[in-house]
Amino acid sequence: MIAPMPEPTIEHRTFELTHYDGVKRTVYCTEEEKQFPDGCLITSTTDLEGVITHVNDAFIEMSGWSKDELMGAEHYILRHPDMPKVAYQDLWTTVQEGKKWHGYVKNLRKNGGFYWVYATIVPSFRDGEIKGYTSVRRKPSRSKINEMAALYAQMIQAERGEA
Ligand SMILES: Cc1cc2nc3c(=O)[nH]c(=O)nc-3n(C[C@H](O)[C@H](O)[C@H](O)COP(=O)(O)O)c2cc1C
Repeated sequence: MIAPMPEPTIEHRTFELTHYDGVKRTVYCTEEEKQFPDGCLITSTTDLEGVITHVNDAFIEMSGWSKDELMGAEHYILRHPDMPKVAYQDLWTTVQEGKKWHGYVKNLRKNGGFYWVYATIVPSFRDGEIKGYTSVRRKPSRSKINEMAALYAQMIQAERGEA
């Protein structure tokens, strides 16, 4: 369960997202970027379905959601409409096979702003079975952010059949 996003008072774009489980949600995006702080790691863990089971303080600070709002919420609470769907598909296929996934992700903040991360997601095992997933996010370089933003924009156009 996810609390609704408040509509920003500054200029924004509005999207209706449909998530993997059929949940539909209205999200708002502004062009306000929050810089990833130097020397910091943003971490979270999820269960097998991607429901958040742990977040660190940096996650709370960067996402803008409170700990109460995050715990038990689906990780798609951070899905940004500028991210191509295929990136998340690649993430899930990789970790469900028990492998490590790396990737650049543009995340949506509660206030409609965004932040870029370089994420590493690993499955955690108990008795040989995957029991959940952990993500550790590092600060990406500005040149890589620019490269990935251009690539993702092309991929989204292709997904919408506009390419
Ligand atoms: C451990 C873990 C961390 C994740 N971190 C993020 C994240 O930071 N941002 C994000 O948009 N999706 C993240 N995801 C992927 C989401 O679960 C979800 O697949 C994605 O937001 C797209 O959701 P949707 O296709 O249902 O809308 C993470 C998944 C896992 C397992």
